[in-house]
Amino acid sequence: MQPNFGKSLRNLAVFAPLKSIIAAFSNYSGMTARRSSVQSLYELCAKTFRTSQPLTQPSQASQALSSLMDTIGPGDVGLKDESTEDDRGHGVFGLSELSRTARWSQPITYLDLYECDKFTMCIFCFPTSAVIPLHDHPGMCVFSKILYGSLHVKAYDWVEPSLVRIVKGPENITVRLAKLVTDKVMTAPCETSVLYPKRAGNVHCFTAVTPCAVLDVLAPPYLESAGRPCTYYHDYPFSSFSLPDGADIPDKEGEYAWLAEIKSPDIYMRQGRYSGPAIQP
Ligand SMILES: [Fe+2]
Repeated sequence: MQPNFGKSLRNLAVFAPLKSIIAAFSNYSGMTARRSSVQSLYELCAKTFRTSQPLTQPSQASQALSSLMDTIGPGDVGLKDESTEDDRGHGVFGLSELSRTARWSQPITYLDLYECDKFTMCIFCFPTSAVIPLHDHPGMCVFSKILYGSLHVKAYDWVEPSLVRIVKGPENITVRLAKLVTDKVMTAPCETSVLYPKRAGNVHCFTAVTPCAVLDVLAPPYLESAGRPCTYYHDYPFSSFSLPDGADIPDKEGEYAWLAEIKSPDIYMRQGRYSGPAIQP
């Protein structure tokens, strides 16, 4: 049987453009297959947090995660730097009466990137002067990367063994001694900060000095039924109350405060829509 060259040639003619289409598609899929920073972050979190046990101290794993978060900027998560676009920008340390009122006019926006029972990835976008009051992270590890803007961070660790006082008054107040570990303004670009269950500032308060955004990884997430509720506190100066009889503070050099539990404050917060690269679990 004679080979049908006519048909082969026709096939070749079809094959040539098909080949270029395949090549073009390969390039396209090569482009889309490039892993986004948030996808890499998700994958590293999934590898690092296989159980609901927190990291308890700095380690190779926490260093790897911090280093990856260090590379992430607002553009990687679908945000733009809004730190200079606030016309109320007096900052937290120079509030006029007008901006004192205006501070309540804009909510903190919460963006949910990914959530499972082992870890949560989320972003908080603060308007100037917005505050997340003093709160704790029991049994948790939190990685925080400021994406843009300036944020004042005040953070404490509990003094261990715990020093507790019941202060008699019209209302009995229970206060517990904590040591100040951070009290500073952090401005992007800066390194990722990490807190652990018992170190590096597990109880903290955020105040936005300019519009700012923070990428957070919480591992494990809050879960009241697992003993991980979020509790809010008021901090009293150390001099406000005396130490219990016979007690002494372990480190005379440190700065201390008494923390008293308060009921959950109303935080003006709304859920926003995450518009960065999709995360593929
Ligand atoms: Fe927090």
